[in-house]
Amino acid sequence: MCGIVGYLGPLKAAPVLLSELKCLEYRGYDSAGVAVIEDGRLCVMKAAGKLSNLEEILVQKGPTARVGIGHTRWATHGVPNDTNAHPHIDSTGKIAVVHNGIIENFEELKTELIGLGYAFNSDTDSEVIAHLISYELSQGGEMLDVILRSLKRLVGAYALGIVSQEHPDRIYAVNHHYSLSVGLGQGESFLASDSMAVRQYTNRVVRLEQSEVAEITTQGVRLFNFDGLEVKRSPIAMDSSPYVIDKCGHKHFLLKEIHEQPLVLRQTLTKYLRHPNHPIDFSVGAYDPSLDDGSSENKMVGDGTAYGVHLTDEEIKGLNHINIFACGTAYHASMIGKLLIEELVGIPVAVDIASEIRGRKLLVNESTLAIACSQSGETADTLAALKEAKARGAYTMGITNRADSHLAQITPNLIVTECGIEVSVAATKTYLAQLASYYLLAIYLGEKRGTLPPEKAKALKMQLNAIPTMLEQILAREEQYKDISIKYADAHDVVFIGRGVNFPTALEGALKLKELSYIHASGYAAGELKHGPIAVLDQNVPVITVLVPGAVYEKTLSNAQEARARKAKMIVVAVDGDEQAARTFDSVLSIPPVEEILSPLTTIVPLQLLSYFISDYLGKDVDQPRNLAKSVTVE
Ligand code: M6R
Repeated sequence: MCGIVGYLGPLKAAPVLLSELKCLEYRGYDSAGVAVIEDGRLCVMKAAGKLSNLEEILVQKGPTARVGIGHTRWATHGVPNDTNAHPHIDSTGKIAVVHNGIIENFEELKTELIGLGYAFNSDTDSEVIAHLISYELSQGGEMLDVILRSLKRLVGAYALGIVSQEHPDRIYAVNHHYSLSVGLGQGESFLASDSMAVRQYTNRVVRLEQSEVAEITTQGVRLFNFDGLEVKRSPIAMDSSPYVIDKCGHKHFLLKEIHEQPLVLRQTLTKYLRHPNHPIDFSVGAYDPSLDDGSSENKMVGDGTAYGVHLTDEEIKGLNHINIFACGTAYHASMIGKLLIEELVGIPVAVDIASEIRGRKLLVNESTLAIACSQSGETADTLAALKEAKARGAYTMGITNRADSHLAQITPNLIVTECGIEVSVAATKTYLAQLASYYLLAIYLGEKRGTLPPEKAKALKMQLNAIPTMLEQILAREEQYKDISIKYADAHDVVFIGRGVNFPTALEGALKLKELSYIHASGYAAGELKHGPIAVLDQNVPVITVLVPGAVYEKTLSNAQEARARKAKMIVVAVDGDEQAARTFDSVLSIPPVEEILSPLTTIVPLQLLSYFISDYLGKDVDQPRNLAKSVTVE
């Protein structure tokens, strides 16, 4: 949420900042801005709305400055307008600050600074930082000391970029519970919230750790802790393959990413499941180029950081509880993860919406495995929950698509999904990869603890290996899904129902429709419909049922009949040849027959496509839906 960039070197700063910001727009697109030092004067340019609005201003003004910082905003305090856009400047107009995070004591500081004569322009919490630095500067001292003194007054989690007209030869950056990377080139340096944004220029990167300040010049970077002591850290070499943003012929990134799912699943399976006769192997370290078939152009590869699962067999056998933390789509994947682990491993699993951990008694101990599942690895709530569990003695594990994320820094056990970058804000392929990770993890734990007989493990692995082909068959039916989807595009409310492993599918289907089309949608456990939600049904409300042969088929069908009796429009995701479904429902989103336990891997795809087609038909912003950000770094 919010992206920070910076540049200083021989190039014109504005185009570099813009290209870095383009890589970070997923973090928010409410407004964007830059501050550069042009002919010895600080010059700020900013615009509400998408980055393209800022781009127009930069093209018009054509600044030639060689140093600057930039920001893309997801609004927390203050509406998305030009005034609230970052950078924020102090009253002298000499210091500019970009900020990611929340300053929790900003009201108190603002009152104090107003009392001292400082005039505020915006409604943001961030502006207080610029004035605070200005005040501390007036009290004397070198810029680094001034910043360190200012930080002592701030409460909250934040990442900052700071430039001062008096010091055009440097940028200061601060990281306090976020991610920030400094890219080192030849006589030039870069700053970004996400190292992906600097990788187009250099592969030598220094990551700021928690509570550190960086003094960045064209010659490199010096790091200091919040006590002002210098910290030495060598740059790491990232994979130098450029980050390519390409829709590969698809109308939207979302559609491209939905279509990448067979490949994503194959890559994830290939990585950890070498052969059905072999146990799952999570000891895999860095990215293995031999597994890349080159078909995913924008594949984000690891930076050589070792990851994998490093729990010993004894530690795994000693676990008596698992607690998973996640938000949004990752939470839905984790709900399925819970069912799989309980079914195949027999350990009780709690799955929590990560933001609900705050202020609650967290019941974990030294025999708990705490898992954080997060596509970005940057979700503040998810990270906070994992840290809390770690502090209480639990073993920790992460499931993420970003081997270079904050999550990767805080746990020694990391499963990295093989998705490549997901550009579209709505998660699709990363959901599928998270599901795949949970299937593999459940089998892995079952094998290690001896709860999963080898024959059953082998059968499951073989069935898993067959899913990518099924996904291809499903994607080949998209025109059929499109025709059905458009019929329901005028709905104002949509209800999704499912049972067992497909209850979370119903939740995820509803979330996708809300995010992409802004149509109100709710997912329910099918059996819960009659306990209240059925009251909203009438002939105007489509009910979408996820119905797969297996233990809960008949009961789900009965629940759908209850909805039908209220004259709801009836849609179903059902397997080929299901005559009963064909008779009961108005529209069938058909999929190839699939084992119930594996069905969430396939039932979600027609629902993703349904949301996509409705969104596109309604003319919505498919890849960047309103009010959202892909990486949610505030609590
Ligand atoms: O990066 P994370 O997986 O931690 O993100 C969690 C949610 O913010 C994310 O899944 C969100 O719900 C997406 N917009 C879903 O499409």
